[in-house]
Amino acid sequence: MSLTAIVRGCGAYLPENVLTNEELSKTVDTSDAWIRERTGIKERHIAAKDEKTSDLAAHAARAALKSAGMDASDIDLVVVATTTPDLTFPSTAAIVQAKLGIEQGAAFDIQAVCTGFIYALSTVEKFLASGQNKRALLIGAETFSRILDWTDRATCVLFGDGAGAFVLEAQDETAAAGRGVMNSYLRCDGRLVDLLYVDGGVSATQSTGHVRMEGNKVFREAVIRISEAMERVVADACIKVTDIDWFVPHQANERIIKGVVKKLDLRPDQVITTIAGQGNTSAASIPLAYCAGVDDGRIKQGDLVLLEAMGGGLTWGAALMRA
Ligand code: UT7
Repeated sequence: MSLTAIVRGCGAYLPENVLTNEELSKTVDTSDAWIRERTGIKERHIAAKDEKTSDLAAHAARAALKSAGMDASDIDLVVVATTTPDLTFPSTAAIVQAKLGIEQGAAFDIQAVCTGFIYALSTVEKFLASGQNKRALLIGAETFSRILDWTDRATCVLFGDGAGAFVLEAQDETAAAGRGVMNSYLRCDGRLVDLLYVDGGVSATQSTGHVRMEGNKVFREAVIRISEAMERVVADACIKVTDIDWFVPHQANERIIKGVVKKLDLRPDQVITTIAGQGNTSAASIPLAYCAGVDDGRIKQGDLVLLEAMGGGLTWGAALMRA
């Protein structure tokens, strides 16, 4: 019996505290005009001092469970995509599992920076399709504000905190009726580590470190690699990029998104963007954008949705699903 992973529900959480470009320009040499023009970002959410990645993740997960009409006892797999775990160990997924009161199944984190949600979706899909697990909570959650150098204007204006979650369920072909994750394409080129990394870590410095990025070099790689991944996943499904209903990109830079839309002949009104109000929330940006599209009624059951991301590693990838 062939099984498919269906998205049964999604949920989002953004911390209450909002940091505007205007406020940032009082502490670092930047301006609202520069940030908007170069990135499309107007403001971002910042987690409160006592709010951890697992708190954001648990909020988003509860909202996703509610939208799926399920509760903790239905879930047998928790996967958190994050680069900003609460602790070095155990995994944030283990902490979230406990916060949600889930007492069965497995839990682990996936670390592929901004591509984390695509890597995790691809992984969870395989766990469900194999029959190993029945229902999964897949969460992208980040407190990137904790690893920013707030004196570095080239990076601190770009990122925000937040979490988004999917509840996925394994269904047989009849029940799935064409819905579900169809395929995914994952890449990494570790030779490009130095373009985007954190200058600290357990084994290297025994400290957390801060985000360092050669932004314009990453930018130059982005449109080409993202477009290649998107073309690959649709080709594997024997369709064209222009056959999709919705494009849900990682929200790193509005100019990158527009570049991809132009290169692949998509229409601007097919794109779900949240970057203006959230900035780049790394592994959380795709589920946050997807939920925004579902909540306002744009993404409907049966729609063909294409997701993509690129991040540190460099990692990049895309996934195709029927909502
Ligand atoms: O999600 C993970 C993947 N990340 C990305 O995809 C990010 C990719 N990169 C980008 O989005 C863009 O490269 C940035 C938004 C980071 C930067 O935009 P850019 O158009 O590539 O600018 P740049 O780095 O080439 O810098 C242009 C100028 C420089 O000044 P000079 O040398 O021309 O005098 C920078 O020092 O802008 C300056 N600059 C700033 N000015 C005001 C850099 N950051 C700022 C700032 N405010 N915040």
